[in-house]
Amino acid sequence: MPLPRHIAIIMDGNGRWAAARGLARHAGHDAGITAVRACVEACIAKRIEALTLFAFSSENWLRPGEEVARLMGLFGDALDREIANLHENRVRLRFIGERGRLTVRLQSRIAAAEAKTADNDGLALQVAVSYGGRWDILKAVQRLAAQCAEGALQPRELTEGHVEAALELSGLPDPDLFIRTGGERRISNFLLWNLAYTELYFTDRNWPDFDAAALDEALEFFAGRERRFGRLAGAAPRSTVRA
Ligand code: IPE
Ligand code: IPE
Ligand code: MG
Repeated sequence: MPLPRHIAIIMDGNGRWAAARGLARHAGHDAGITAVRACVEACIAKRIEALTLFAFSSENWLRPGEEVARLMGLFGDALDREIANLHENRVRLRFIGERGRLTVRLQSRIAAAEAKTADNDGLALQVAVSYGGRWDILKAVQRLAAQCAEGALQPRELTEGHVEAALELSGLPDPDLFIRTGGERRISNFLLWNLAYTELYFTDRNWPDFDAAALDEALEFFAGRERRFGRLAGAAPRSTVRA
């Protein structure tokens, strides 16, 4: 069965999971951490190369301050609790997103976790916090524009490769499989550039209920897709090709 090299997930539906049980929204976020652990373990067992998890979007800052504060606390606590186990499993952990908006304390916990696992050769795990696809592209454009202004680059020499190299996921293959839990069928400003040819899988299951069996269902969906990348049937290789 062909497996994706890179899986990207919008972990949605925590609040609805909690509401359905008469619980506060934060109970859903807490339960979501258990699902993250199960998903990461399943990806390690299957030797998936890369997993990118959307934990908090640029727009999620617009939620009530209390929910935002709880989520930020949860990220820091989960990081402290899980980092040793991740490191033992040779996971290379990185955060993508506008980290200057996070508290200094969380930024330093993130930097320490990234440094600890930087040389690991197992699963490349990206956690997107304060991330937006438009922010990512805009930042890349600003960087390239600055290089042009300095004369280090000519605008007409710019290639897709330059843009890719300036994006947060540079160095990783584009996601092969996108999963969104929670029933919504939209991208919500996730990886706008990198999802160009990704297979899209949506499930009504809420994130706290997403387990190894649910991941297997998504992988079966993926295995059944024919990826053409614009070519004719039967002609496309498994990973992204560019004309
Ligand atoms: C996803 O669950 C987690 C974050 C966006 C932080 P939600 O909190 O969006 O849960 P629903 O969509 O309201 O059920
Ligand atoms: C997307 O979920 C962001 C994350 C899961 C981190 P949202 O719940 O914020 O998305 P919308 O508002 O339904 O589009
Ligand atoms: Mg949601």
